[in-house]
Amino acid sequence: MSSARETLIERLQQRQANVVVVGMGYVGLPLATLFAEAGFNVIGVDLNAHKVEALCRGESYIMDVPGEQVARLVASGKLKATTDFTVLKQADAVSICVPTPLRKTGDPDLSFILDATRELAEHIHAGLVIVLESTTYPGTTREILLPTLTEQSGLTVGEDFFLAFSPERVDPGREDWTTYNTPKVIGGITAACTEVAASWYQLALKTIVSVSSTESAEMTKLLENTFRMINIGLVNEMAIMCDRLGIDVWEVIDAAATKPFGFMRFTPGPGLGGHCIPIDPLYLSWKLRTLNYTARFIDLASEINTGMPRYVVNKIQDALNDQTKPIKGSHVLVLGAAYKPDVDDLRESPALDVIGLLRQKGAEVSYHDPYIPRIQQDDLDLHSVPDAIRAAQEADCVVIITNHRAYDYPKLLESARLIVDTRNALGQMGRKSTRVVRL
Ligand SMILES: NC(=O)c1ccc[n+]([C@@H]2O[C@H](COP(=O)([O-])OP(=O)(O)OC[C@H]3O[C@@H](n4cnc5c(N)ncnc54)[C@H](O)[C@@H]3O)[C@@H](O)[C@H]2O)c1
Repeated sequence: MSSARETLIERLQQRQANVVVVGMGYVGLPLATLFAEAGFNVIGVDLNAHKVEALCRGESYIMDVPGEQVARLVASGKLKATTDFTVLKQADAVSICVPTPLRKTGDPDLSFILDATRELAEHIHAGLVIVLESTTYPGTTREILLPTLTEQSGLTVGEDFFLAFSPERVDPGREDWTTYNTPKVIGGITAACTEVAASWYQLALKTIVSVSSTESAEMTKLLENTFRMINIGLVNEMAIMCDRLGIDVWEVIDAAATKPFGFMRFTPGPGLGGHCIPIDPLYLSWKLRTLNYTARFIDLASEINTGMPRYVVNKIQDALNDQTKPIKGSHVLVLGAAYKPDVDDLRESPALDVIGLLRQKGAEVSYHDPYIPRIQQDDLDLHSVPDAIRAAQEADCVVIITNHRAYDYPKLLESARLIVDTRNALGQMGRKSTRVVRL
């Protein structure tokens, strides 16, 4: 008689396995489409009825996933969506892609993972492979998911069902490295778990990198994002130091980047944004605090990075001051609200902090973003102005927060009285202009 492992691998290879993706957001939807393209019948489960309805109509709500692709997969019956977790009863393979934010206190908020795991525990059965994709601290899969899944079911991991962690590394908006061709790290609770999860994922993704444990896989993601966060902190401090020294940091970075080895280019900016870089390292430092260890690099970089919006607002204040204008009552146009160029994601965007600080100082703030028509967050409720160039003509100061490619920068430079460019979006044009202040 063949084992649960062999039967499941066989079902996966024959594409007879039913795939369920729990959480159909920036991570879940691209992954679900990849599994569907690889020939699996895929059902996406999400609590958000609007997303589910959009998918059922064959519409995409993620910029990186083309609407035509979703329409085709939904029409062919390969991709379905529901809010009903009972579909887990028929599942053979489940990916969990739910959010892992921070609580107001800065501690990890695992409530979404816990809720999804409890739903899964209700319907768990032998012959199931489960992969957690949500970024989290090392130990989560073994300490949180595993007991919840085994407590009531009495199933044995690595024999009856298979549990692994595989970090999502997608960089939204990027076209060269996608979910498909970015190597996928997978680590299971047991060697059999790694084997089954890798056998499944390799049918839909280009390269699989197996590691020996869920903890190694969880830590891999945290190393990658902590590396980025610390290097961004370093280059932000470089910008502050260059400013004091009267040196152009952008020229220094360009020159350093000509070194063919041993240097990697990072650029300063108005602060960290997005769901990963500002948050993931704090999952790691929190975990280490429970072990009486202080993650010093993370703390220091975090302090520098979270200070950047205030640094930018000080730059705006000084620039206005040079034109004998107080910040109070001045009209400041914030250009770009998304946390990075060419995406529609506002999560943790430094634009929110910059807008908040400017308003605290009494500035009249408007914003423009081609991808974010409205900002509704805490006490903010702003609509993007319809025409960036026209608004720039009327503003006392324009601050470039997000260097979207859609902007006509030469025209912007022509139109604005004063620009604070936090991204070097204007490049050499900005360097030469007396109306431009750079970070
Ligand atoms: N966005 C990125 O670029 C990115 C990159 C790498 C890793 N990650 C990580 O992947 C995870 C998911 O991030 P995301 O950006 O896709 O988040 P998201 O908010 O875009 O999507 C998460 C989805 O899960 C749904 N959801 C929440 N709780 C649920 C539950 N109990 N059951 C079913 N659905 C539920 C939400 O409604 C939402 O649609 C996070 O841990 C994040 O850190 C994100």
